[in-house]
Amino acid sequence: MQKKRTIYGRKRVLVTGGAGFLGSHLIDRLIERGHEVLCVDNLFTGDKRNLDHLAGHPRFEFMRHDVCFPLFVEVDEIWNLACPASPIHYQHDPVQTTKTSVHGAINMLGLAKRLGVRIFQASTSEVYGDPHIHPQVESYWGNVNPIGTRSCYDEGKRCAETLFFDYHRQHGLDIKVARIFNTYGPRMHPADGRVVSNFAMQALRGEDITIYGDGSQTRSFCYVDDLIDGFLALMDSEPGWPGPVNLGTPREFTIRQLAEQVIALTGSASKIVEQPLPSDDPLQRKPDISLARERLGWEPKVPLEEGLVKTVDYFRGIVEAERA
Ligand SMILES: NC(=O)c1ccc[n+]([C@@H]2O[C@H](COP(=O)([O-])OP(=O)(O)OC[C@H]3O[C@@H](n4cnc5c(N)ncnc54)[C@H](O)[C@@H]3O)[C@@H](O)[C@H]2O)c1
Repeated sequence: MQKKRTIYGRKRVLVTGGAGFLGSHLIDRLIERGHEVLCVDNLFTGDKRNLDHLAGHPRFEFMRHDVCFPLFVEVDEIWNLACPASPIHYQHDPVQTTKTSVHGAINMLGLAKRLGVRIFQASTSEVYGDPHIHPQVESYWGNVNPIGTRSCYDEGKRCAETLFFDYHRQHGLDIKVARIFNTYGPRMHPADGRVVSNFAMQALRGEDITIYGDGSQTRSFCYVDDLIDGFLALMDSEPGWPGPVNLGTPREFTIRQLAEQVIALTGSASKIVEQPLPSDDPLQRKPDISLARERLGWEPKVPLEEGLVKTVDYFRGIVEAERA
């Protein structure tokens, strides 16, 4: 068995992108498990306030660093989440987005190889592009435009998967690749342009709710606590099984249904208004999670209504702070 890198016998864990939405929830759970956590983030979309509650914690450390550059640290496990995740953010500097996915993967894989430790990759349902099959299974290779405005993210993440699997085949690296579908919950960026945050902020501010197209396109929304359960189950799974595995909820809603639900929850007088569909916006996206059920015994549990209440409460706090 490999020696732990602390004298206390606990794991020292590196989380890249840990100041972001998913990363900060993951760190909470890793701290709960008794690990030491090193969060590495360049704060491009992340926010230190997501980690305020851990300031001064003896098992938590923050390092401002861009994963596009090599990192030399001693850890027992690596979680690679660094990457802007919403179109508004990843299209802001598309070259940097691809670099973050590709150079970031190379740097983190190099580190994992040097240390001989397990490494997790936060991949995405976007690797399926605008899918021809529905729901998407892991064996589907996807339908991705290589030169569109979403390509910096989609192709960057696809290339990162390639690198992970080549390090696995070529160097025997212990990798775990999760393909994450739409996730929502507290600490989402309020201006990330994703549907849940958009709708909640618009409804709470009493503004019209914008939907793209007629709102008949479907999405499946997984609550963040469920997703992190899936991350941990994957990272705890037996060595030699790299995935990729879909993590998300197969329960579908139309965008219009979601807008109506948010309006009902906030008691807002907002109206729903339609805008043209952006280019390359997939019309349908839903995971087949049979593999996660079978290999990880995982499936999401939190109903949309319950998750939305917690999420809307979080955004209510932000809107109230804006007004104060
Ligand atoms: N949230 C979702 O629904 C979703 C879906 C699919 C995949 N993912 C993946 O999960 C991961 C986390 O997503 P999120 O929703 O928490 O996004 P987020 O934007 O909240 O978090 C990403 C974090 O990475 C940091 N970051 C960006 N570029 C960096 C760089 N070059 N060096 C260091 N840090 C950098 C950001 O500052 C931020 O803290 C991403 O890799 C994303 O692609 C998320």
